Formats: sequence, C-alpha cells, structure tokens
Amino acid sequence: MTTFKLLLLPGDGIGPEVAGEIGKIVGFLTSAGVGSFETETDLVGGAAYDAHGRPVSDATVALARESDAVLFGAVGGPKWDGVPYQHRPEAGLLRLRKDLGLFANLRPALCYPALAGASSLRREFVEGLDLLIVRELTGGVYFGEPKEIVTLESGEKRAVDTQIYTTGEIERIAAVAFDLARTRRNKVSSAEKRNVMKSGVLWHEVVSRVHRERFPDVELEHVLADNCAMQLVRQPKQYDVIVTDNLFGDILSDVGAMLTGSLGMLPSASLGAPDPETGRRSALYEPVHGSAPDIAGQGVANPLAMIGSLAMALRYSLGLGSVADALEGAVSDVLASGVRTRDIAPPGANAVGTGEMGDAVLRELKTRLARA
Ligand code: IPM
Ligand code: MG
Repeated sequence: MTTFKLLLLPGDGIGPEVAGEIGKIVGFLTSAGVGSFETETDLVGGAAYDAHGRPVSDATVALARESDAVLFGAVGGPKWDGVPYQHRPEAGLLRLRKDLGLFANLRPALCYPALAGASSLRREFVEGLDLLIVRELTGGVYFGEPKEIVTLESGEKRAVDTQIYTTGEIERIAAVAFDLARTRRNKVSSAEKRNVMKSGVLWHEVVSRVHRERFPDVELEHVLADNCAMQLVRQPKQYDVIVTDNLFGDILSDVGAMLTGSLGMLPSASLGAPDPETGRRSALYEPVHGSAPDIAGQGVANPLAMIGSLAMALRYSLGLGSVADALEGAVSDVLASGVRTRDIAPPGANAVGTGEMGDAVLRELKTRLARA
C-alpha cells in the first residue's frame, strides 16, 4: 500500500473544527485500503505565535517540505490584532507559500445545483457555474520590494508596496492555466490592468506569446481586471479559466466564491513547480473561507470547503483522482439530500453542525466506494 504523508495545519478560528473532519475521512481511506495516510498535525498562524512567538516555525516549514500535501485550515482573528506586522498570523501562510514556491493557486468556483438558491445572484445566473481562477501566488505586490512605510523630512509618512513581475513568473502561471483549460472547456481569460500598469503590459504580452507558441488550440481572451469583476457578477458563466496576478486574484476569487452561495463551500490548491526528476511538487490545500472568528468554537462551521480541499489533494498530489471524484460526489449527494450547515441553510430550516456534516459525507463516501 502506498504511504502518503499529510501535514495538517489547522490554525485558528474555525480551522481546527473543519480540519477535524479530515481525520475521519483519511482514517476511513486507510482502513479501506486506499493508501496508508500518515498524518502529522502542527501549529500555524496565531496558534503558532502564541506557542513560539512566530506564525510558523522553521521546523513546521521543514515538515511541510517533506510532506506529500499540506492541509491548511485558516489563520487570523482579532486576538492577534496587536502583534507586530511581521509576526501576524497571515505572515505564516505567506511564508509557507513563498518558501515552498507555491506559485499556482487554483480556486474553483462550482455552484452545486442544490445550492443555487443560496447565491446572492438569481438562480439562472449561477446554476451550473463551474469556473476556475488561477491566481499567481508568490509574486506581485504581495512580495515586491520595497515594501515599507517611511517618514519624510516634512514629517509626513509615505507607504510603498511594489508590484513586480518577471517574464518567467508570468510564463509559468500562464502555462498552468492553459494546461488546465485543456481539461475543461478550453478557454482562458487573462485579467490585468495594462491600461494603467506596466506589469499589466508585460502580463498581456507574455500570456499572448505563451498562447501563440504553446497553446494555440486554447481560446484566449484578455480582460481588464475591473471589467472582469463586473462581468463576474453580470454573467459569470461566460468564464472557464481566469488567470490573473496575486492581488487581482485575491479579489476576484472572493467574488467568484460568493457567486456559489457560500464561502464555506470553496476549496483551493496552491502548487509548486514539479521537480524535473521526480515529478513531485510541493502543495498546500486550504479552504477559501478564512478563520471566521465570529462562529469559532461553536461547532457550526461548514467543513465542506476543507473536505473539498482534501479532494483536491487526492487529485493533484496523491494521484488518487477517482477517490477525489468519489469524495466530491459524496459532497454533492449530501447536499442533494438536503443536509445543510447554517451558512447554506434557507432561513428557518434545520441546520446540522460541523461533525454531523462530516459524518454525512463519510457515509456517502463509503457507499460510493463500496459501489465502485
Ligand atoms: C487569501 C487570503 C490571504 C491573501 C490572506 C489571509 C493573507 O485573503 O488566501 O485569499 O490575501 O492571500
Ligand atoms: Mg483573499
């Protein structure tokens, strides 16, 4: 039986609650003989800061490098509002992304038919929605230097963030988007602001060249990032794969997420480059929803984005695509049967807690794997 090394980083807020459901599922997969899942759990974010004064320790980064996949819950919360900027919980996540070279962030927005009514857009606009945002994750204004606040001679302060992209960074993220489009509806929309930003001019040029030289069979369109935000709420189903930079991707993926009815539904994958010799790549999987401190500790959080993140890990890191399909199918079955956590329940309807939702998915998964 193949051994898979998973590192679980539950983090803060609802992170530990939703990450708890992962243990149930990988426990079952091991007992069912799918593989031997070795899971280690460690601290990240505010929890790590409280324990060792850093939002992620060197030892944890080393563990992450050695694992086949990192499953990350969420970080942050008002408790850490006062900690020094470089040690805030989010810095732990940013360090993991940077140190592991996780440049490709895949954020699918899939609207389950059973949930189309929960979107803030009318059903006909979102039913059947299936788009994928490919966000560049280790460059741009998140990491560009200088990044500082300086005091001028006048006593006034000046803040600087720097947007930087190189040809190579754009080429590799564009290639990920085109490759994925070929497995879907074969269309890429590239979003930038070439009308005001030099980095947008280069982005447009490089994406066009990668398309011409390597992926002429894929349909490519260019869209200004602000227009893309507007189009996402006007007619989201026009999109298949959207490729964009780190900051625009942060914003557009929140829009994409909300189209589906709940932030609590959406998983994501952050992937590094495959090793040229082994083909192995660093990877971190996390729900898009964040730590939701307002509902933390109540056992009401929706674990489906975390479970969906495990499905992406099975598919992209562990070579278990059919098990990933079964797990996603199980989620769909559970939703079709009417089981709802609070965030996706219609007003006045009964809602289950985090653990019950995880159990319901596990039951359907067992049924599906027994049939297979
Ligand atoms: C995200 C989050 C992060 C980001 C934060 C927590 C640093 O908003 O993953 O979208 O801005 O990238
Ligand atoms: Mg974000």
